Amino acid sequence: MLEDKTILLGITGGIAAYKSAELARLLIKEGATVQVVMTSNAEKFITPLTMRTLTGRPVYSSLFSPSYGSATVHIDLAREPHLVVVAPATANFLGKVSSGIADDLLSTVILAVKLQECPVILAPSMNTAMFHNPAVRDNIALLRRRGYLFADPLSGSLACGEVGEGRMVEPVQLVELIKKELAKSARADYSGLTVMVTAGPTRESLDPVRFVSNRSSGRMGYALARAAAERGARVILISGPTALEPPPGVDFFPVESAREMYAAVMDKFSLADVIIKAAAVADYRPEEAYGQKIKKGDTLSVKLVRNPDILQELGSQKGDRFLVGFAAETENLLENARKKMTNKNLDLIVANDLTQEGAGFAKETNKVHLIFRDGHVEELPLMLKSELSHLILERVRAAIG
Ligand code: PMT
Repeated sequence: MLEDKTILLGITGGIAAYKSAELARLLIKEGATVQVVMTSNAEKFITPLTMRTLTGRPVYSSLFSPSYGSATVHIDLAREPHLVVVAPATANFLGKVSSGIADDLLSTVILAVKLQECPVILAPSMNTAMFHNPAVRDNIALLRRRGYLFADPLSGSLACGEVGEGRMVEPVQLVELIKKELAKSARADYSGLTVMVTAGPTRESLDPVRFVSNRSSGRMGYALARAAAERGARVILISGPTALEPPPGVDFFPVESAREMYAAVMDKFSLADVIIKAAAVADYRPEEAYGQKIKKGDTLSVKLVRNPDILQELGSQKGDRFLVGFAAETENLLENARKKMTNKNLDLIVANDLTQEGAGFAKETNKVHLIFRDGHVEELPLMLKSELSHLILERVRAAIG
């Protein structure tokens, strides 16, 4: 799991430093290369010789040592790892990092690490009163907002004889957290890309009370938006009315009608590298939207007129953007989907057979065929919309190279 991964293990001066030796051993057992950087206070709790023997690598602790051979060892060390873990992280160290103080090698390395490329996990360890001190609470809150990750301390007997919160998490738990974070960042294949997703139904007004709409819940589009954000994309989600919360971190633009969705999509589409149109856009709208509630009669005739076809318009203007459409069908699935793909100039179409059990509107699952521009068809099994979203994004990423 951790083969080919380099982990920088920072050790600061707390009694839990003895656990760092076990952490290094477990990481190495998983195949990782472990580079240790210690503060001078950490060396009072555990010797550099112990860490050097366990890791098979030199241990760094001073900013200025002629034996390093590089004058910019802090930058070299910050560039190398796939992940940094500081265990234990003392109250003093958290205070320094939150204030941007770089007065020794470890704090300078942390300042030089680019968080968007390399996750940093801090494992606090201290007395309960110190952990609950407002200064420490504020520092932790600030660091979390900046994107640092925390392995929250456990409750238990502390070295000072007290019982309470502040005990550093066990090395095995830290290893699990490290694996989880590295698995996530391995999927950050959309960082630097913008993905626009449309979702949900549109509502076409008949009068102030009534509208024409369809059965889309928005689940498919929201799952795509969430998955794209999880893979590091900037996400623009344009959605018709749904009961769903927009996923965290996406730019959200709610709309109501097809014409509003058209305007929002056209306004933003030049920002996007990939556009995925999962929305069920109403093809027709009432020709007239009455200003007052229509009074009851024996019958009511409503003339419907065509809405703009947003996807077709995108297809004619797309340039080198990657355009994914959906086709919701109840018959001749592949034939109808292929026609839509050609007419709308798509790079990929997700053909959605609404007659299949567990597929289509308002379900947690979906069953689709992917049809690629070169004619290749991939039939997928029934799967969660969240899983399908990642699979679609994987195929798109492979196609755009
Ligand atoms: O929202 P859920 O409840 O999770 O349901 C998911 C879904 C069934 C809505 C979704 O998986 C799906 O199939 N979406 C497309 C529905 C649809 O409108 O299909 P269509 O075959 O009518 O349209 C083809 C494509 O053209 C779609 O990408 C659609 O967004 C787009 N279109 C259609 C009409 C129009 N006026 N403008 C468009 O852009």
